[in-house]
Amino acid sequence: MAASPGSLDLTVSASQITGEIPGVLQGGRVLSNGPGWTKIGGRIAHPFDGHGYVRAFEFAKDGGCRVRARFVETQVYRDESAAKRLVHRGFATNIDDAPWKNIGFGKPRNVANTTIVRWGDRLLAGWEGGAPHALDAATLETLGEESFGGAINGQATLAHMHYDAAQDRLVLCSLTMGRNTKITFREVDRSAKVLSSREVTVEGSLFAHDFALTPDYYVLGANPLKMKLGELAKMALGTSTLLRSVAIDEQKPGMFYLIPRKGSAPMRVIEAPDRVFVVHFANAFQRGAEVVVDACVFHRFEFGEEFGYTGPHTPFDPALPDVRKPQRLYRARIAEGAQRATWEKLVPHGVDFPRVHPLKDGVESALIFGATRADTRYSDPFDSIVRVDTRDPARAPQVWTAPEDVFVGEPLFAPDAANEDRGHVMVLLSDGINERTTLAVFDASAIDQGPVASVPLPLLPIAFHGEWDGGDTSRGSV
Ligand SMILES: [Fe+2]
Repeated sequence: MAASPGSLDLTVSASQITGEIPGVLQGGRVLSNGPGWTKIGGRIAHPFDGHGYVRAFEFAKDGGCRVRARFVETQVYRDESAAKRLVHRGFATNIDDAPWKNIGFGKPRNVANTTIVRWGDRLLAGWEGGAPHALDAATLETLGEESFGGAINGQATLAHMHYDAAQDRLVLCSLTMGRNTKITFREVDRSAKVLSSREVTVEGSLFAHDFALTPDYYVLGANPLKMKLGELAKMALGTSTLLRSVAIDEQKPGMFYLIPRKGSAPMRVIEAPDRVFVVHFANAFQRGAEVVVDACVFHRFEFGEEFGYTGPHTPFDPALPDVRKPQRLYRARIAEGAQRATWEKLVPHGVDFPRVHPLKDGVESALIFGATRADTRYSDPFDSIVRVDTRDPARAPQVWTAPEDVFVGEPLFAPDAANEDRGHVMVLLSDGINERTTLAVFDASAIDQGPVASVPLPLLPIAFHGEWDGGDTSRGSV
């Protein structure tokens, strides 16, 4: 993960692939994004601060796989490629050990490294503290920051965007922090026209990385933050970072916010049965007047050592997350007019990177796939994938566990067009010891049987999020 791999164009022939790529997937592609360049001028950047590296794995009609990868050529990437060192201070990475070189923030370090979303003839590479970057969907060439016709105008937009298939809209969420937090949701069409926007203000600061939607609501975890004043002072003096300066405010109860999508009705504040810190939602939907929210929930969370980051001079330590409490996949139910949610744990496993049917954002769908760990005491580092059938929570979920020391990424579900209970799941497996990555394809009905096809690849940097781009039936395809 430490090296910078550079652009990549290669073809893996059908004869090199173990098993066969199912015919139904041919013509489609797996997209993924993540921090591809993290050792920059001798310093190791926190994965959140590594340069976005977008990969496309296209299943060809001849049974092979064509691979293309490009860095997102953000301003930060261009500056640091030219200087061959860190130039811009990040969320979690200082540019130098000499504190005075870190003072002042300048523009946020937008490295476009977190998500990749197909939207018409473009791909959008999302990042937490800035605008998404647009890429040419075919060539992966960077086109520049996406402003949606000037609507977001550089405003920080959450890395996660959601697709309302019923209305063919992309939904975006922007946060402006201060003494209070202003939250703005926007819904855009394919011509980047803003069709609706909704703004609410909540007291204090909150963390948001993802949200969910239903036909009537946007859903957020309240995730209240407090500032660690000592670290904040050290950050100002150049010896600490923003990520180390914030903490979850555990004095406040766990809450979800339900924000009406239409009209100006006030936000509903829903108390959860326990503390709630949500990084990722699986989905949300409505059953009559009841709102159902499927979310990966931490009850405790500390910022700072994500993905085993231990500082600018030491390699990533994947064993570190063992000290973390796991996140659990809950189904929360909120009755009409209720101010409290009830919830149940859907599986005994720790779950992250939850994914559902790509056209069912905001609509009930039975299957959730996620990254997990076979040892149910933990969530990460992920060594397994899990299939959860929400119709039958009493039944043990299907789990497939990778060989030892192989890191398992986000599982992407490609449902069959005619039967959404069936389809395939794609996941990238990273084997740092043997220096190889594998794109594994599973039968979505039988992930515990292991991959039906494995595409051998050179070792690639670990990715955060991706998307199945299935051509005609995919979201955003034109
Ligand atoms: Fe995420």
